Amino acid sequence: MTDTPFLPFAKPDLSEEAIAEVVDCLRSGWITTGPRVKKFEEMLGSYHGGRTALCVSSATAGLQLALLALNLEAGDEVITTPLTFVATLNTIVLAGGKPVLVDIEPGTLNMNMDRLEQAITQRTKVIMPVHFAGLPVDLDPLYALAEKHGLRVVEDCAHAIGAEYKGKRIGSFGDIQVMSFHPNKNMTTGEGGAVITDDPVVAQAIERLRFHGIDRSAFNRFAKFGSQEYDVVMPGYKYNMMDIQAALGIHQLPALDGFIDRRTRLANTYLEKLKSFEAISLPMAPDYPHRHAWHLFTVTIGENPAGLDRAGFIQAMKDHDIGIGLHYPAVHLFAWYRRQFGWQAGDFPAALDVGNRIVSLPLFPTLALADQQRVIDTMRHVLTETPARQKKEI
Ligand SMILES: Cc1ncc(COP(=O)(O)O)c(C=O)c1O
Repeated sequence: MTDTPFLPFAKPDLSEEAIAEVVDCLRSGWITTGPRVKKFEEMLGSYHGGRTALCVSSATAGLQLALLALNLEAGDEVITTPLTFVATLNTIVLAGGKPVLVDIEPGTLNMNMDRLEQAITQRTKVIMPVHFAGLPVDLDPLYALAEKHGLRVVEDCAHAIGAEYKGKRIGSFGDIQVMSFHPNKNMTTGEGGAVITDDPVVAQAIERLRFHGIDRSAFNRFAKFGSQEYDVVMPGYKYNMMDIQAALGIHQLPALDGFIDRRTRLANTYLEKLKSFEAISLPMAPDYPHRHAWHLFTVTIGENPAGLDRAGFIQAMKDHDIGIGLHYPAVHLFAWYRRQFGWQAGDFPAALDVGNRIVSLPLFPTLALADQQRVIDTMRHVLTETPARQKKEI
């Protein structure tokens, strides 16, 4: 073992102003949903071209509510990717839909657009693309197909706030987008998420569903000018965001573009310094103009002189005090999903292969260049040295 401090693969960057805002909120006497959530929603709306932003307790909650707002009926199909966090699929099932998977394109790791149309059936209701690692999906052909077949689109933007597709910010156009503010994401509210849309029917349904089904006109019932009376127009969930969380978001959002610039510089350094390293494959860029949000920097572990598989690589890096993430094993391999939908491992071969070999390298705005160099040097060391030699040195 070394005596170097453990390097995590992700770490939030919280300013003193953000921390002070949380403390102010705690002292204010109003800590749950209130003025700070309202302000954060206004800021998020402006950041996304003046569209409506609705804060919720997580992106998982937001995805579920977005689908519920579209009134899925049993058997309605929602098309998504097998290379995602399982929340994407869970929300489809929990909203009453049936997930249908389209394999990934192995270079970009996003859903393979050439295979999308053949997955559309009479029962398809929604396409749910995931902008994997923060790389925008090719949205023009996707929206063209959605229009042709009369489908709704819910973009899982858990990785992609601040990304751009052909010069337009993700979330500033299209149908419905869902952002995540989990601490590993590009900006955080601790836990939290937001739904972005300009569809007033969807926005109203989400507003009700996120808070017990209570009509908004009665929402502010504890304030001086709010009403104690309220009506429930549908059974709803308890998926609201707290002001304590929004206090962070109010300061994280203005910092987001700077965070992404920093992530981009670090990602470019990884790309440059690892480009001729044969033991791994690097993510590839599509040819349409885009701004990658670089939520994750993933590589896939290939044949290597040390004979390490993914688990061996993660352990070897841990032994050198470097944290490595695993995003994600292909979702069609999970027991419940196999059983429920009869999926076989080989049904989605590209996702299967990548999902078995993918890892995420440390990437966060405050990652020091010296620490990044240590990651690169250690990777080269553990993947090229023979196991016996590594053991001696650890
Ligand atoms: C692709 C994707 N979708 C959805 C989620 C769920 O986000 P949250 O943790 O905010 O519920 C995640 C979280 O990691 C994710 O990676």
